[in-house]
Amino acid sequence: MTISDLLTVYNRHQFPLPDFQNGGEIRFTGALVSALLDRFTKPGDAVFDPFVGLGTTFFVCEQRGRLPYGIEADRQRYEWVRERITAKHHLICGDSAELAAFDLPEMDFCITSPPYMPHWHKWNPLYNGDPDYDGYDIYLKRCRKYSAGSANA
Ligand SMILES: C[S@@+](CC[C@H](N)C(=O)[O-])C[C@H]1O[C@@H](n2cnc3c(N)ncnc32)[C@H](O)[C@@H]1O
Repeated sequence: MTISDLLTVYNRHQFPLPDFQNGGEIRFTGALVSALLDRFTKPGDAVFDPFVGLGTTFFVCEQRGRLPYGIEADRQRYEWVRERITAKHHLICGDSAELAAFDLPEMDFCITSPPYMPHWHKWNPLYNGDPDYDGYDIYLKRCRKYSAGSANA
């Protein structure tokens, strides 16, 4: 598959949304993760998600015999996902910018959806809106750090 191929998947969520999200959807669908795993991985492969969120990558990997690893900064989300997975010790509560400190194994595949920031927002989701880190340029700079860290993991 190349980047120009069209991927058509169901835009329907198969996993429950926790009450604490108050209906706020932040996830990609399990069908998207499944389709990418089918094309790019095989059973037993290690799959990395540096922004685990509500665990879609972990849930689908465990259904499909892949080994999920991931990092989630938000403790409430981390704990909610952790309660629902088998590979509990593969899930880290922390900052993906500190990837090198986590002693993770070599990965076969990486899939993620980072916190999104449109260019017209000041609030930088990667710093929880800390005004010292306002602005889209700082957001992009930090995203580059995540990409470089994941590429070397
Ligand atoms: C768009 S959501 C990911 C949703 C996920 N793909 C799913 O299907 O559930 C992005 C997640 O990144 C987390 N996050 C934000 N900054 C982070 C950081 N520095 N390191 C790790 N996770 C972070 C947020 O708490 C949020 O849960």
